[in-house]
Amino acid sequence: MKEVIVKTSGKTYPIYIESGIFNRLPDICQENYSGKKLAVVTDNNVYNIYGKTFVKKLEQKGFFVIPIIFEAGEKNKNLVTLTSIYDALAEHAFTRSDIVVALGGGVTGDMAGLAAATFLRGMGYIQIPSTLLAMVDSSIGGKVAVDLPQGKNLIGAFYQPDSVYTDPMLLETINDRCFSDGMAELLKHGFIKDISLYEKLVNNEYDRKSLSENLDEYISVSCNIKRSIVEEDEKDNGIRQLLNFGHTIGHAIERVQNFSGLSHGEAIAIGMIFITKLTESMGLTEKGEAEKIIKALKKYKLPITWPELNIADVVKAIALDKKNRSGRITLACIERIGHGRLIEIELKELEDKIYGILED
Ligand code: GLY
Repeated sequence: MKEVIVKTSGKTYPIYIESGIFNRLPDICQENYSGKKLAVVTDNNVYNIYGKTFVKKLEQKGFFVIPIIFEAGEKNKNLVTLTSIYDALAEHAFTRSDIVVALGGGVTGDMAGLAAATFLRGMGYIQIPSTLLAMVDSSIGGKVAVDLPQGKNLIGAFYQPDSVYTDPMLLETINDRCFSDGMAELLKHGFIKDISLYEKLVNNEYDRKSLSENLDEYISVSCNIKRSIVEEDEKDNGIRQLLNFGHTIGHAIERVQNFSGLSHGEAIAIGMIFITKLTESMGLTEKGEAEKIIKALKKYKLPITWPELNIADVVKAIALDKKNRSGRITLACIERIGHGRLIEIELKELEDKIYGILED
């Protein structure tokens, strides 16, 4: 088992990474949470594959468990679903010392985490990520949120989990597209912070089966990169914004497509390529780095060409970015692979340059 310890100002917690740990979780819960009520928040897909049996096993260990199941999909990461979680917790008289269990991908973790952060002003929660994206990114670092019609993650908090239990075996049931989605975030950690992670991944022959043999190692390296960044800047005022590499353009693409076109990982893949082309053209990034990024993303079956989208719509969506402060935006980019940096740029200048790059 690999263990990564995250130390933030308010909480220190472990991320356990081990194939098969999910099957041991009812015992682990018995050791750690005996006497507490558990609310297992999960979507209908994950509930059918893993949740139902998990809840039964927890009950066999003597736990009082309520499953809180919502319909899968980003469109349900909203205040209506959040309210249904509060209702279930209130109806079953959950207290601050009881535990919310987030079993699923990023949508589940974000929403269950926000429920835990706010119900009774804060109760415990654990993360059991079931997608690669959640394992390497969203289950770590305590960003929890729901969306508003006006935008993604507009209602949220920083609220760290008590523990994260990561079982790469759960990835056997996700499809190739969802797997590649997570690879985009994993590769991102290499691009911004770790050239050796990049080199290993780019020199690999990629097939899921052989990658799976070393997956716990890659997940652990990736978690460690995110850990070091979160520990330095938990509240996202500085260095943590490096994790937004590719996200300014990526989020804008997702928004223009109404969150029903490219997946998050696919959109940020495009974002990482085009922002690097742009910073190369500005002399901020060494020449040739965008090509290296393309090579890695292509290998992991991520898109590398601009989608059929009106550039003006994407530029307009960038202006709505949360990181836009009075017409200036902080942009994550790389000097070269493994060396991320933040730059401040006028939104207008960014818009002009994006037109320049995309119309090229
Ligand atoms: N996913 C970006 C962050 O956690 O800051």
